[in-house]
Amino acid sequence: MNLSPEETSTWIPLTLQNRDESVLQIQSASKEFLYDKSGKEYIDGISSWWTCIHGHRHPEIMEAIRQQTGVLDHVMLAGFLHDPAELLSKKILSLSGGNYKKVFYSDNGSNAVEIALKFAIQYYKNRDGEKSGRHRSKFIVFSSSYHGDSIGGMNVSGITYFNRIFAELRFPVYEIGAPDRFQFSTKEETSIHYTNLLSQVKEAISENQDEYAGIVIEPLVFGASGMIFYDPEFLQGLRKIATELDVLLIFDEVFTGMGRTGEYFAFQKADAVPDLIAFAKGLTGGSLPLAATLVSEKIYHTFLTDDPYKSFFHAHTMTGNPIACSAGLASLAVLEKEGLDQVRKLESDFRKRIQGLVSSHPEVLINPRVLGGICAFELNQTIGEDEYLNPIGKKLRAKLLEKHILLRPLGNTVYITPPYNISESSLDRIFSALDQAIGSL
Ligand SMILES: Cc1ncc(COP(=O)(O)O)c(C=O)c1O
Repeated sequence: MNLSPEETSTWIPLTLQNRDESVLQIQSASKEFLYDKSGKEYIDGISSWWTCIHGHRHPEIMEAIRQQTGVLDHVMLAGFLHDPAELLSKKILSLSGGNYKKVFYSDNGSNAVEIALKFAIQYYKNRDGEKSGRHRSKFIVFSSSYHGDSIGGMNVSGITYFNRIFAELRFPVYEIGAPDRFQFSTKEETSIHYTNLLSQVKEAISENQDEYAGIVIEPLVFGASGMIFYDPEFLQGLRKIATELDVLLIFDEVFTGMGRTGEYFAFQKADAVPDLIAFAKGLTGGSLPLAATLVSEKIYHTFLTDDPYKSFFHAHTMTGNPIACSAGLASLAVLEKEGLDQVRKLESDFRKRIQGLVSSHPEVLINPRVLGGICAFELNQTIGEDEYLNPIGKKLRAKLLEKHILLRPLGNTVYITPPYNISESSLDRIFSALDQAIGSL
């Protein structure tokens, strides 16, 4: 039975609080499927906001949680440590290729980003002390990027429909245009666009170098703001500028981390190593909240001191929760064993299937694109507003739900980000439902 958001005691997020909206009550889940209270099955085509990378209730993750609940539920990490956190940190450091020194835990993507921002600001304080003169706290950020809904996360996001209302709270950032690959039709034009944007970044930092702490970007894909794809060369350009001008490069891999682009982290795919990485989403395979920020040796080094004023005064109550860390270890084991191969297979499946969909709807479906376990396109029908609020997205979502497919278009951008191990038959069902739903718009 569906409810309206007005009828529930729970505030339903990102949903208009009115009687026209409807809230589907989910009772259970398994693999790529969700089941409602009447037992109807839905394919979770977006891995519940990109978290359930191995499908719902993966047996190895559930078993790891069960085992951990019999041993240790929680202990604060200030002055304490436990095996699940330490083993997970070692595993993450090794999967990230030995480029990082420490893992700092939190429990959601927005926090992981904020922690990276605070590390960046304090790095310069610790390193330069009073001789730094000005307080370096400004960041280069990108239009249409999304880094979370907390104040700090919103602050380094591009100004969009999501955060416009809170724009006055912004601490200083310099916003550069998005490096969108689909804005231009040729590779040359795109390359020129990247070069222009990189020049703007360089110029902005050069003019006020002592104000900037870092550059914050979602590597290879700007996710929530419309699956905007761009090329590794842009990240390599940013890496070069950050090194030359002595600012930190921060990658927000909350979406792209844990295999979504076909490597453990997108920075590995892009061949550009940032100084700090924030990630969350797939870390526990969607089972429990856990996020992390990776800190490089260079940054960590400035915190190695007897001076209490140079310690990092940041912690969350549930930081490094043992049950969540055990789930993370199990999820990474699945990712190592079979996950990345599954993403690569999914990528080639997507490439074939999206071509079929484009040929059925050549006028309507534009900018088809695939990267790892992400398939996206735009509907060339703008009825009303741009961005997230374009009603075409909601209309398509409703039509797909009638066909028992859960996708959540971002305005006129449609994307599929299923669990890596989704079955061929479920992919068939998603693409056939899309074909029919787009045809009936
Ligand atoms: C790139 C990126 N950063 C940060 C966040 C915020 O993560 P959370 O919703 O866990 O706070 C998201 C969420 O979608 C994201 O995609």
